[in-house]
Amino acid sequence: ASPEEERMKEAHILAADYFQQLLLNTEEGEEGLRYLENRGFTRDMIETYGIGWSMPNWDSLTTLLQHKGFDLDEMEQGGLIIKREDGSGYFDRFRSRIMFPIRDDIGRIIAFSGRVINTEGEAAKYMNSPESPIFQKSKVLYNLDQARPVVRKERKLIIFEGFMDVLASKNANIHHGVATMGTSLTPQHIQKLKRITSQIIVCYDGDHAGWEAAKRAAEMLHAENLTVEVAVLPAGLDPDEYIRKNGAESFRDNIIAVPQSFISFMMMYAKRNKNFQYPNDVQQYADEALSYLTSGISPIERELYIKRLSEETQVSTETLQGQLRLKEAQQ
Ligand code: CTP
Ligand code: MN
Ligand code: MN
Ligand code: MN
Ligand code: MN
Repeated sequence: ASPEEERMKEAHILAADYFQQLLLNTEEGEEGLRYLENRGFTRDMIETYGIGWSMPNWDSLTTLLQHKGFDLDEMEQGGLIIKREDGSGYFDRFRSRIMFPIRDDIGRIIAFSGRVINTEGEAAKYMNSPESPIFQKSKVLYNLDQARPVVRKERKLIIFEGFMDVLASKNANIHHGVATMGTSLTPQHIQKLKRITSQIIVCYDGDHAGWEAAKRAAEMLHAENLTVEVAVLPAGLDPDEYIRKNGAESFRDNIIAVPQSFISFMMMYAKRNKNFQYPNDVQQYADEALSYLTSGISPIERELYIKRLSEETQVSTETLQGQLRLKEAQQ
């Protein structure tokens, strides 16, 4: 990395220490500390993950960086501070937020995500550092540095939607989870994952957005010849909320240990909003389900899915087999 990038990373270490000190040892940080404690974060976890608090002031980090001799123009490019429009200096990007350090593949801090405590206001719940020479959102996976050795041992990796889910899972003794930083999964993320495992579990939030995103991620991973499974959460819960409601053991046993296969998930997804009273819905569903059974599947699996499809739709397996042969002939 260039000397400039090295200095940006140095500044991120300084900022993280400063934010943590504010969270743990000052009156200003008390509100944030209480919020984290209510969400089940222990002091130990806060220190391990390097979580902190940013001051409400406009210039507290800016002043610190300046005193430590950092070039403010460079710090602006690194995303920590923002240039005033009238050109009269700089101000802090993050204010009154809980600060989560984002690390690169070898564990160096390259960005922050800041969460507001009160989500009722105008401010976005999470604010991330902007794209910079050291932080490209489309490449970064939260916790990949820590997860890598565990993934190699477990052979599997879990992708969550939010880094809060990664942290809740770590607290539940699941250490092979990662999350994207507020973007959907990109080809660059997938290339990175491919280098460490061929088996991925997608575990996104149990809401409409989560389902849509899980479908998209599963299709992308499947297209890259990875073995994809989808761990589906009950409606209305994300992994963190599930763990808080039902406990870590239930999360491990009833969610992560029993994911849907790619085909099962895609069939489940295709089935939503369908009413099998209507022949047209049956036709549409069968057609989509059969499209997953044409290639890259063993004869045994194929037979089992056809049986399932027959039970669901009341169409005979013979007719479904016939449709499948037709589909294959068309390919
Ligand atoms: N996100 C974001 N900006 C928002 C909302 C979400 O960047 N206003 C991104 C964040 O990276 C977040 C992810 O999308 O980690 C998932 O969003 P969401 O499910 O809403 O957040 P949670 O992880 O559930 O966070 P929390 O439990 O703190 O509400
Ligand atoms: Mn496991
Ligand atoms: Mn969500
Ligand atoms: Mn969520
Ligand atoms: Mn959540």
